[in-house]
Amino acid sequence: MIKSLVLAAGKGSRLKSNTAKVLHRLFDKPILAWVLDCLADVDLDEIIVVCGHQAEKVKSFLHAYPVATVDQTIQMGTGHALMCAQDELGDFEGTLLVVNGDCPLIRSETLNDMLNYHQQSENQVTLLTSLVSSADGYGRIVRRGNSIIGVKEDKDCSEAEKTIKEVNAGVYCFEWQFIKEGLSKLKSNNAQEEYYITDLVAWAYSQGLRIGNFILDNPDEAKGINSRADLAEVARLKNKESLETLMEAGVTIIDTNSTVISPEVDIGPDTVIYPGTYIHRRVTIGSHCSIGPNTSIFGPAEIGSHSTVIQSHINRSSIGEYCNIGPFAHIRDGSDIYTKVKVGCFVEVKNSSIGEASSAAHLSYLGDAQIKSNVNIGAGTITANYNSFTGEKSSTVICQGASTGANSVLVAPITISEGASVAAGSVITQDVPAKMLGIARPRQEIKSLPVKKANQN
Ligand code: UD1
Ligand code: CA
Repeated sequence: MIKSLVLAAGKGSRLKSNTAKVLHRLFDKPILAWVLDCLADVDLDEIIVVCGHQAEKVKSFLHAYPVATVDQTIQMGTGHALMCAQDELGDFEGTLLVVNGDCPLIRSETLNDMLNYHQQSENQVTLLTSLVSSADGYGRIVRRGNSIIGVKEDKDCSEAEKTIKEVNAGVYCFEWQFIKEGLSKLKSNNAQEEYYITDLVAWAYSQGLRIGNFILDNPDEAKGINSRADLAEVARLKNKESLETLMEAGVTIIDTNSTVISPEVDIGPDTVIYPGTYIHRRVTIGSHCSIGPNTSIFGPAEIGSHSTVIQSHINRSSIGEYCNIGPFAHIRDGSDIYTKVKVGCFVEVKNSSIGEASSAAHLSYLGDAQIKSNVNIGAGTITANYNSFTGEKSSTVICQGASTGANSVLVAPITISEGASVAAGSVITQDVPAKMLGIARPRQEIKSLPVKKANQN
């Protein structure tokens, strides 16, 4: 039987934040979610999360996960976190996989390999370790000969111990029935005045228990997040990995330094991503697209093949094939744009559908509108969808083949029927029937200019 314990109660003081450390986001997903998603691919009988700092917020995030929680009301260190799980674990016998909740780069393959190694070597304790060039902040693996005899926290290390490059990644396999006894022996007489989980290693050694370590191939996986700088570094690594995967799949990325694309994003081959592009959450982009420069796309969103998006922002919307979006378009949530559509400069679209081959090329607001196919939206067309007295929003329907002239205001609810036209500068308050012209503006008058006096210029 294998259970996992995730330590997520710490405050994360070094982040200087009102948000609990494990809820800080990496690509819009809390750090803790990365760890739990990784554990989902490990064959475990139970996952227990230790909650403490902002426990209510952490627990409400955990509702989406099949995990049990235990409370560490006062956080007295990682060893103390383990003590708080003792009741929940009861008389559990088997392997307890303990994972720090602040290491979002950890991979399930690593944990599975480590568990196999732990079981095959019949260890009572296995530590995940890595060899790093800079060990600052990490617990050092202290050896006598080949045997691991303990872990020394950075703040407690002697000058000699500081030079050790083998570090503790914060992931442990414990044979619980042997290890739980050691919890009552932990002391907090150290630099941080905390009960350290890592002190269980020296205790296990003193008891003659079998201790081993599993070495990470890629030391980056061990990166724990303690500061904003760590968060930025981990995001950089995650982004690098995600861009490399996309490039291997045939996507051109012009400037990897200024492009940020989250790992959930899927992009087809021969699409080109220009500098300054930021794509996150679940986004699917087809092949032969051109995205950017300076474009942000927040999913869930879809962009069909052969489409172009320049200098624009798209949020939770779908764009069809062969579309041209931007420059400077704002596609807000709930928009559904079909094939061969043009949404041009300074056009804002919200919760609207735009049918095939329609065009809104310049300076428009299209909100709560159903625009059918082959519609031409003139420059400066506004759907007046909001009644500021009642607070209600109403919809505009513009049927197939209709057109609106420049600077027309369509006061919703309103329908412009098939093939109808709206004259430039009109404020339309009544439906326009099929193939008719709606015109609503003062008629132009031509008047004589006053005669200028001789000395005026
Ligand atoms: C810890 C290890 C260190 C290791 C490093 C790897 C200890 C004493 N040290 O150090 O050897 O190299 O991780 O990243 O464990 N937590 C609780 N309750 C607490 C304190 C912490 O649940 O009372 C949780 C935190 O939320 C965090 C994890 O435990 O997810 C690790 O705590 P942190 O303070 O970040 O430990 P480090 O100093 O990084
Ligand atoms: Ca840490």
